[in-house]
Amino acid sequence: MRQETFKFGEFLETPQPPKGYQGLSGFHKYWGKKPIEAWEFLIAHLTDKNEVVLDPFLGSGLIARKCLDLNRKFIGFDINPLSIELTKLYLTPPKQSELRKAISEIYSSIRDEISVLYGLSNGKNASHYLWNKGELSKVWIKEGRKRIEIDPTERDIKNLVSSKYYDSKQSRQPIFFDNSRINAKKSLKLSDLFSPRALRLIDLLSELSSQYDDNLSRAIRMILTASVGQMSKMVFAVSKRGKTKGAVTDKIEVGSWVIGYWLPAVYFEVNAWNCFENKANKLIKALNDIDDLPPSQLAQSIPQLFHNDCNSFLQCGDSEKWLQEIPSQSIKLVLTDPPHGDRIPYLELSELWNCICSYQADYRNELVVSNAKERGKTVEKYNQKLAKILSESLRVLVDNGVLAVMFNARSKAHWDSLHTLDESKEVIYVGCYPMEYSAGSVVQDNRIGGLKHDYVLIYIKSAHKKASQEIVKHFCEIPGWLSEYPNKEQ
Ligand SMILES: C[S@@+](CC[C@H](N)C(=O)[O-])C[C@H]1O[C@@H](n2cnc3c(N)ncnc32)[C@H](O)[C@@H]1O
Repeated sequence: MRQETFKFGEFLETPQPPKGYQGLSGFHKYWGKKPIEAWEFLIAHLTDKNEVVLDPFLGSGLIARKCLDLNRKFIGFDINPLSIELTKLYLTPPKQSELRKAISEIYSSIRDEISVLYGLSNGKNASHYLWNKGELSKVWIKEGRKRIEIDPTERDIKNLVSSKYYDSKQSRQPIFFDNSRINAKKSLKLSDLFSPRALRLIDLLSELSSQYDDNLSRAIRMILTASVGQMSKMVFAVSKRGKTKGAVTDKIEVGSWVIGYWLPAVYFEVNAWNCFENKANKLIKALNDIDDLPPSQLAQSIPQLFHNDCNSFLQCGDSEKWLQEIPSQSIKLVLTDPPHGDRIPYLELSELWNCICSYQADYRNELVVSNAKERGKTVEKYNQKLAKILSESLRVLVDNGVLAVMFNARSKAHWDSLHTLDESKEVIYVGCYPMEYSAGSVVQDNRIGGLKHDYVLIYIKSAHKKASQEIVKHFCEIPGWLSEYPNKEQ
């Protein structure tokens, strides 16, 4: 049977085309970020105002913002400090005008330093350097909106190549593991990934971020993490043999930091201030959509969320531990997208972000299957841990509450982690639907056996027949809706 996939937004009360990753959703490339429309549909149809939604694997945090916008209470956990900080930015953003002012103040205070770091002998600042096996091959400058290629003088080349080693003063030492799948090595240092110029600028920006209040300072740090990949030596050069007005040209374009720690032989070193400013402008623009909305009242504890006017509770840590703090029968909807086996080693990939902000990550308790042997993150351990987390998620659900799990894994062994749910007498599986990705920023699994879309699996707790029929009716119109399990052998 050919399965169609669910198009986001199609089933909302006012059908809308999928927005993909625009505005706030497009600001940060958090790994494995899913289109928010996928969750919006479930929140809108399965909960009422002030009911509590839980996500034990929060990720990018966009779900928390969606709950706030729809007046639902929200509890979110994630082991990745970056995830919690990003979510706090979305829930308690600075005012657009304040952020614009702060970025302009930062620029004024480091403008001279930027010229020292990137200035050329013609008085202009370089926007890009193209490096080829350690040799500078091209320099670009910005003229208005155009990029112009120039020949660097002998003096420029001498300055650039001899620029001194710089050791970061603000970032903590990174912790990498030998993992060939993501090109990581234990010995990798920040000075391998960045030029001294970029490291110096990253330091200046982190230092300056701390002079602002919490919300502004967090926004500046999140802009830095959103742009730091593009400041690195991991920006590969794309050569395209294309035609311009009939003549065949070899055009070189700027690629982007994609995934992992691959250091290409031919890469662009992009002016780090420009990278930061681009992301800052993106966030400033996105804040326009929420500038007039009240920020979230963040609860300091789980009881406070249930008994006060607070609307969100966020906790950085292991869900297996934190779920135990939630009272039984208190949550209307659990929406979750756990790490899918060995698909994305979240903490290893987020190390770059976490170390420049000096956030410590708890590698030991991460739910993941990793190719980094030293971590001992096997499929068996993954299955046991996920089973415990899912079983706790069922405990906290109210009767007739829904658990929706977004899942996709290459092998049957990974799917086995969902057995707890199959075997539980507390819950019934009502079906699933395929969920296609709407943008390239979700890391696709291109290995043999990798699926091209996720499934959203729907379970109802202690379902009364009438109530479950009511719930199922929302789903059975969805293209590709299956009342049986997806084919795990794919
Ligand atoms: C698939 S991602 C979630 C993506 C999210 N749905 C989104 O759209 O951005 C899974 C998340 O689980 C987190 N995680 C891994 N182990 C965890 C644990 N033991 N407790 C809490 N979170 C964990 C990872 O840091 C990652 O952010």
